[in-house]
Amino acid sequence: MPITHEISVDLPGRSYKVTVGIDILTGLGRIAAASDGRVVVITDSNVRPLYADAVQASLSDASGRSDVIEFPAGEEHKNLATYEDVMDRILSLEPPIDRRSVVVTLGGGVVGDLGGFVAATALRGLPFVNLPTTLLADVDAAVGGKTGLNAQAGKNLIGAFYQPEAVIIDAAVLKTLPADELGNGLAECVKHGVIRDWALLDFIEDNIEKITSCQPDTLAELIGRNVAIKASVVSADERESGERAHLNFGHTIGHAIETAAGYGVLSHGQAVALGMVAAFDIAESRSLIDSSVAGRVRKILTELSLPVNFDDLSNLPAEARNPNRLREIMAHDKKTLGGVVRFVLPVSPGVVAIFDDVTDEQIKAAVAALG
Ligand code: GLY
Repeated sequence: MPITHEISVDLPGRSYKVTVGIDILTGLGRIAAASDGRVVVITDSNVRPLYADAVQASLSDASGRSDVIEFPAGEEHKNLATYEDVMDRILSLEPPIDRRSVVVTLGGGVVGDLGGFVAATALRGLPFVNLPTTLLADVDAAVGGKTGLNAQAGKNLIGAFYQPEAVIIDAAVLKTLPADELGNGLAECVKHGVIRDWALLDFIEDNIEKITSCQPDTLAELIGRNVAIKASVVSADERESGERAHLNFGHTIGHAIETAAGYGVLSHGQAVALGMVAAFDIAESRSLIDSSVAGRVRKILTELSLPVNFDDLSNLPAEARNPNRLREIMAHDKKTLGGVVRFVLPVSPGVVAIFDDVTDEQIKAAVAALG
């Protein structure tokens, strides 16, 4: 059960540890031991058949009682109806849960977000432990305490900042991850390199084959480095009043493309890759950064099979390439303050800053440059 990294998320009174390793799911008994034995695992229909038995077995080994609550997999189920169903089920367990009971979320970002929100609100807050099973959740969603649901009015509009007690990441489980899902996480890893650690891009480039073939040691190292970046950003700014907004690099135009394309047409990683390319284009047009820096990032994205222009994607609706439509969507984004679209732009390798004065012309030119 090799643990490869232990990273601390330092928050006043709520610090917690992120443990990264290989084949560590079987060592979960200590969670039960620390919780008077009662654990409720929240998972989805994709992950339950793969890993819930192993997790439950290790919890029972520690003579703890564990129940499993499963909901249907997919972003379309991250809503109030699923929340109500999961909440009803957790509150109907016999014997009843109490405030010492621990929620374990086992799955990707949807499970962590929804299950974390259930933990935040059941009995006014139960401790929860996050066991992410996708690279995207490992390096992004599982760390930092954003929990919540999608509303009719938009994604992630219902929720709470609620930090887990611990995050346990097993790099070995990524071997069952579909390629698109891997790409979603890799786009965020490139983002972390651009915003905080340029040398991370060297690591990714030097290990492309091992990463894309899910070699556990390499993935554990990749995850450890990325979690350290995410942890330091969250430790400095839990509530996104400052530097946590840097994590939105590539997401402003990326989200707009994803929304305009319609649900499921392109993956989140593909959208973020295009958004990062567009943000580099804006930075270049403002003479913030040299074109060779943008070229390096485009090369790595291509090596990771992520798109760098619209032609790299088939079936992209015209709507998703339309600069006016994308600008309109950005105006309604929840991160837009008082009508001003805030952009995170690179200012040197591994360093970004926030800009409130990007013009419509610069945005539209960057979208047009995508093809
Ligand atoms: N995924 C962005 C954040 O955690 O702030």
